[in-house]
This record gives sequence, structure tokens and C-alpha cells, in this order.
Amino acid sequence: MDKFLTVDDLKVHFPTVDGVVKATDGLSFGLERGQTLGIVGESGSGKSVSSSAILGLHRGTNAQVSGEIRLDGTDLLKITDEEIRAMRGKEVAMIFQDPLSAMHPYYSVGNQIAEAYRVHNDATKKATRKRVIEMLELVGIPQPDRRVDDYPHQFSGGMRQRAMIAMALINDPSLVIADEPTTALDVTVQAQILDLLQKLQREFNTAIIIITHDLGVVAEMADDVLVMYAGRAVEYGPTKEILTHPEMPYTWGLLSSVPNLLADVNEKLIPIPGAPPSLLNPPPGCAFHPRCLHRDKVPGDLCETVLPELLPGVRGEGHLKRCHLTNPDSIYQEEVAR
Ligand SMILES: Nc1ncnc2c1ncn2[C@@H]1O[C@H](COP(=O)(O)OP(=O)(O)OP(=O)(O)O)[C@@H](O)[C@H]1O
Ligand code: SF4
Ligand SMILES: [Mg+2]
Repeated sequence: MDKFLTVDDLKVHFPTVDGVVKATDGLSFGLERGQTLGIVGESGSGKSVSSSAILGLHRGTNAQVSGEIRLDGTDLLKITDEEIRAMRGKEVAMIFQDPLSAMHPYYSVGNQIAEAYRVHNDATKKATRKRVIEMLELVGIPQPDRRVDDYPHQFSGGMRQRAMIAMALINDPSLVIADEPTTALDVTVQAQILDLLQKLQREFNTAIIIITHDLGVVAEMADDVLVMYAGRAVEYGPTKEILTHPEMPYTWGLLSSVPNLLADVNEKLIPIPGAPPSLLNPPPGCAFHPRCLHRDKVPGDLCETVLPELLPGVRGEGHLKRCHLTNPDSIYQEEVAR
């Protein structure tokens, strides 16, 4: 059975003079309304490219996009440019990392949100303004009837992010993609914004994809988590399960590099050695193998030569992992979690 959003074998490849950049290489996932999927992975792993494909943002570029993206049964890769434009902002909306660059400095915040509304609704100026003020109030902007006429630079970073959320939600979209929505904010404002997103999600039954570097955000927000490495999913399943019983050494690395406030202050964070691979020439076999501290536990040269499939892990069907290790759970508990 299809989920509300079903992404199946999505590929986004960019031909360049040096070769083909396989930014997304066979990504599959699903999401129901009212649920949140967290996508995590290092810089350059293909998180933004993959989610931009849902909004059809690669259309009209040289990107080669294939696979299926079905939203409520409609394949978004098959509809016309006009149809995808009609859905963008209405059915699917995006919240960007940096609201200052996503908002135009010369137009007031209210005007920009009004524009997002009027593209999809035949409303009078007065009704639109009323709706914009309501939305600003909903996202917690103080004195919204006055602040509506402010310009983006007159808002603080947190207020701009709230205004972006108001703009994304004004047409009551069924799916919201939030790409690093809180990275530029300090931690208290970050927590308020995440709370706000969750509150609005409950109110509107929105499906949310949240893209983040921060496993804390995933733990707080996401029902499911998908870990990306070099354009592919390497681990995918319910957040609680993945965070407590991860089965893929890359996920172990992500978890070991997160500070634990309750830990001994002398406890060292363990960064993942090396750097993410180029997607132009990713390593053969498991793309993570040059950085993996556990590949000596796999017999022969499997890790270096054979790409592991994304298969159910040792603990059950719903937990998928891409790794040749046969006893990852015990290695994690005995060697890594300690
Ligand atoms: N138009 C393009 N042409 C060629 N390569 C591209 C293009 N757009 C993106 N890429 C490459 O695709 C890869 C994935 O990029 P993407 O922006 O999805 O990474 P990301 O996971 O979102 O990283 P970050 O966490 O830094 O935002 C990168 O290697 C990037 O250089
Ligand atoms: S397949 Fe091999 S190299 Fe890749 S994560 Fe598993 S053990 Fe490490
Ligand atoms: Mg990105």
C-alpha cells in the first residue's frame, strides 16, 4: 500500500564536464500525513537535492531525474510544469535554512507572505492582509497587525524563520519540507521553532520532512529517520529504533560525534575519520568503506567491492540498513555504545 508520500528509486544525476554527479542514487521512502521524517547525513550527501526533486525544482535544468514521487497517488515526476507549479506552495511547501536569502529585502514581510497566498487564492487585498496577520499571529509574531509592514531586516533571525513558516503554511499544504530550518538560530529559539512546527503539524495534520545535521532535532521531531551517505539511504526506520539500535557504522559515527550533556566532561567526542566522498567518483563497494572502522569484521574484500543492499536489519522488518556486517547489534552494544 502506498503511503501519502511514496518516493521510489529516485535518482537525480547531474552531467558535468568531469562526469556524472550522482547526487541521489536510488532513494526510496514513505511518509504519512501528520508524520515527520528526518533526513540526516553529512554535507553533500544529497539531502537537499533529493527533497528539491519533490518540489520539481530540477525541472528546466540539466539534471536527470528518474524514479517515482507519488503524493496522494499523483506521480509528481509525470505531471506538467504547469501542474507542478500549481502544487508548489499549495500542496507542498518548503522552509529554507536561511530566511534572509529566501526573502526579498525590498518587499515587506507581509507583502511576501500575501504574494504566496494570492498565487493560489482569488482573494481581495483586504482579505489577504487579514489572513497574513492571522498567520503571523499563529506563528507567534508579536503585534502582527503592525509588524506585517516591516521589512525582513527589521525582524530578528527567529522572527524571520517564523515568518517563513507562516509563508510556507498559509495555503495549508499537506507536505512541508524543512531544509535545516533551525541551523542559523540559537538553541532556545531553535527549540521554540521546533515546538511551533510540531504544534502546527498537529493542527493541520501536515506531513513534514525535516532535513538536518542535528540528531537532537531528529530525536525531538521525527517519527522515522533516514540516514543518507553518498546519495543513498544507508539506514532507515523508526527514530527510536534507529537511535537506540543503529546497525550501520556510519550511523554509529554520527551518534558518537554528538555531545552528550549528561556525560563526563572529560569524555571525548569521536569524530568520523576522513571526509565525505566526491559524488563524481564515489568509492566502489560500500561508499563508506575508506572511513569505516569495522570493515575488518567482514570477510574478504566484500566492503571494498560489493555495494551492500538496503535490507531489513537483525532486529526486524521495519529497520533497514545497508551494511555487510552480520552481527551489527552486538558490535554496537559491546564496542560502540560503551
Ligand atoms: N546543479 C548541480 N550540478 C552538479 N552537482 C550538484 C548540483 N547540485 C548539487 N550538486 C551536488 O550534489 C551533491 C549533493 O548536494 P546537496 O545539496 O543535496 O547536499 P546536502 O546533503 O543537502 O548538503 P548540505 O548539508 O551541505 O546542505 C553535492 O555533491 C553537490 O555538489
Ligand atoms: S559494509 Fe563494510 S565498510 Fe560499509 S559500513 Fe558495513 S562494515 Fe563498514
Ligand atoms: Mg542541503
